[in-house]
Amino acid sequence: MTDKKNTLLIKNIKELFQIEKASKLKVCGLEMAEVPSLKEAFLISENDIIIDFGLMSELNKSESEFQTVINAQGKFVMPSFCDSHTHLVYAGSREIEYVDKIKGLSYEEIAKRGGGILNSAKLLRNTSEEELFSQAKSRIDEIILQGTGAVEIKSGYGLSTESEIKMLRVIKKLKEETPLIVKSTFLGAHAVPLEFKGNQNAYVDLIINEMIPEIASQNLADFVDVFCDKGFFTVENTERILIAAAKFGIRPKIHANELDFSGGVQIGVKYNALSVDHLEFVGDEEISHLLNSETMPTILPGAAFFLNLPYAPARKMISAGLPVAIASDFNPGSSPSGNMKLMMSFAMVNHRITAQEALNATTINGAYAMGISNIAGSIAKGKKANFFITKKIPTLEYFPYSYGNELIEKVILNGKIIEN
Ligand code: NIG
Ligand code: FE
Repeated sequence: MTDKKNTLLIKNIKELFQIEKASKLKVCGLEMAEVPSLKEAFLISENDIIIDFGLMSELNKSESEFQTVINAQGKFVMPSFCDSHTHLVYAGSREIEYVDKIKGLSYEEIAKRGGGILNSAKLLRNTSEEELFSQAKSRIDEIILQGTGAVEIKSGYGLSTESEIKMLRVIKKLKEETPLIVKSTFLGAHAVPLEFKGNQNAYVDLIINEMIPEIASQNLADFVDVFCDKGFFTVENTERILIAAAKFGIRPKIHANELDFSGGVQIGVKYNALSVDHLEFVGDEEISHLLNSETMPTILPGAAFFLNLPYAPARKMISAGLPVAIASDFNPGSSPSGNMKLMMSFAMVNHRITAQEALNATTINGAYAMGISNIAGSIAKGKKANFFITKKIPTLEYFPYSYGNELIEKVILNGKIIEN
């Protein structure tokens, strides 16, 4: 029996971006200003893997050897976005709170009134696993067409053992049934549920003694997260949770320094977090901790935009030599969009970073922040054939500059064209 291989050639690419010159897992500091590329290029995949790319003038195979040939004349090809921080499994939506926000209530005030995360928790507990899956699946279908090829998804709207596991099972099913790369994160410490109001330590005990062992035994989480911030979980709570997860070999990714100088960055670095995310409140001390670490600082420009927060000092971090990743934070409260092209635009306008830096931040550095930069985040032989073809556009800068406009023409995941 012969194996029928699925082979794809993309020819005449005006410019092929983010090609890997030397193998690397992340891009730091000044290096972020460069995106290696080839003009007048080709790209070849076999089944779900990139097997070759180069200049058209060096293409030595005939078109008839390929099952599919795409002519990308005048168009760009980029690796799929790696969105390393989302909460896209949730029930319903929270647009009414958004109106409260416009009227002047702060994120913390809304949370204190039982809104925010607790509002989503109430909805989620009353939603079946099947319905939750179907809502999340349509969000996944949407972000695929917006260019995302890998996504991290957190629990954290269950806030009880049963409902957190329900969320993680939905994420597991998304891993199995959607074409993108999915990583799952247990975020039991997202908010203190109403049943534990005034008894935060007892809720942390439940996370440590019941949730983590159960989730680890069912192998439902790749990572663990804690919302380590003012009004949510303390550094002490966070440390206890990270120690408990480490016993099961689960590495942290931390919500840190969104609302204050919370100590979240320092505790994340201490426990070798893969990433610390948000970072609206970051100064020299946080930067120096990050410089001596393997932790990816991740900014969430959508959340800062939507909540009108101060902007994470991305320029300062990059100038200090740090890498930076950009993620969408797709969630019903602070960033109801998973559109990574839009996140690039926000990052440019509000964080003053360049198109090249933004592309590094949404591809290779995002991949690092979800532990997959060996298989995704750049155009490299042996990596997953996850990439997209743009419409005819003049420059790389045009892509985020033309904000809110759909410029992605064709998405390829696992070497297959996604039909919309
Ligand atoms: O990353 N900051 C904490 N959690 C989410 C918000 C979740 C929500 O409001 O539902 C965030 O912004
Ligand atoms: Fe978040």
